[in-house]
Amino acid sequence: MLKNDLLLKALRKEKVSRPPVWMMRQAGRYLPEYQVLKAKYDFFTRVQTPELACEITLQPIDSMGVDAAIIFSDILVIPQVMGMTVLMEEGKGPLLPNTIKSAKDVDKLEVTTAAENLKYVYDALSLTKRELNNRVPLIGFAGAPFTLLCYMVEGKGSKGFDKAKSFCFTQPDLSASLLQKITDVTIQYLIRQIKAGADVVQIFDSWSGLLSPDDFDRFALPYLLQIAESVSPHAPVILFPKGSNYALSSLSQNKSVSGIGIDWTIRPSVAREQTQHRVTLQGNFDPSKLLLPPSEIRKEVHHMISEFGVNGYIANLGHGIMPHIPVDHAKAFVDAVKEYQE
Ligand code: CP3
Repeated sequence: MLKNDLLLKALRKEKVSRPPVWMMRQAGRYLPEYQVLKAKYDFFTRVQTPELACEITLQPIDSMGVDAAIIFSDILVIPQVMGMTVLMEEGKGPLLPNTIKSAKDVDKLEVTTAAENLKYVYDALSLTKRELNNRVPLIGFAGAPFTLLCYMVEGKGSKGFDKAKSFCFTQPDLSASLLQKITDVTIQYLIRQIKAGADVVQIFDSWSGLLSPDDFDRFALPYLLQIAESVSPHAPVILFPKGSNYALSSLSQNKSVSGIGIDWTIRPSVAREQTQHRVTLQGNFDPSKLLLPPSEIRKEVHHMISEFGVNGYIANLGHGIMPHIPVDHAKAFVDAVKEYQE
């Protein structure tokens, strides 16, 4: 039995005394104890060594006191086990030197055995679940098919992912087959994560907001829903289609979606209006506001919670925490949620 099950209660829309809180990218570079391991081991060694991934996952549980752990890994492990080379360049981010261009490239991608080859993630989850000793729930995750297509076609991070979007628009059938392959692997991957110990899973569609509403309906939505429908019988599913505010109403009408993450570009009241408490909302503090003095962070956080309401709500940032955020400011964010009283 979990000692702190606020996150699961919030996802079931049960009454709570305060919302649960965690931070996207909470295990990472703003933490000095993470920097120590980063100096010793390269990125994929940290990801692929269950003991290291477990230690990094637990760091913010101990130092920040968040209400959930998210397994330390990366969304790009999926393109990797599908056969692509993925490098993580210090200071630059991911690089996939052999991008997807043609049907031949899509044909070559491994689907059947890909999820089996992520044993190190499942081992990291089982180990972390054991080490957590039921303190807080454990979140597993994957990248959404559209966001993974962005990296697989573009080959690196980008402001607009124009190459990836043009690929979708000019080769819609090939895109559909690529998106379907990623979807099939992701479903197996998430179900295995749950079997290994994840209590909840989140799908990061970091770049879906680059799509128009109609294009979201073609290139993102069908795959997000296939994943949610296949995985939700096993554990609650949170979708984070960053910036796709136009999709809130339709996503919230799907019974397999328990939670939806939103960023700071939408008012909580508008998000509530569109989702009507059919789903739990998660978000949406602008991570740049963590540079405010802690006393102001508190005020802003309390205002945010009063706008969302305490129930059916998970306090979080609207995107990942940045490396230059002072630890005591991140802690002020977490503490502000924990001390909130209606
Ligand atoms: O949230 C957590 O604490 C768990 C760990 C986690 C990482 N990546 C570790 C990581 C999670 C959930 C991710 C998801 C991820 N990875 C996303 C979706 C979330 C989002 O931010 O939109 C994306 C787009 C990626 C791809 C990726 N990985 C990028 C673009 C980069 C480089 C730039 C950056 O944001 O740091 C990474 C590297 C990465 N993944 C780091 C960490 C802690 C930083 C590199 C390092 O510490 O050496």
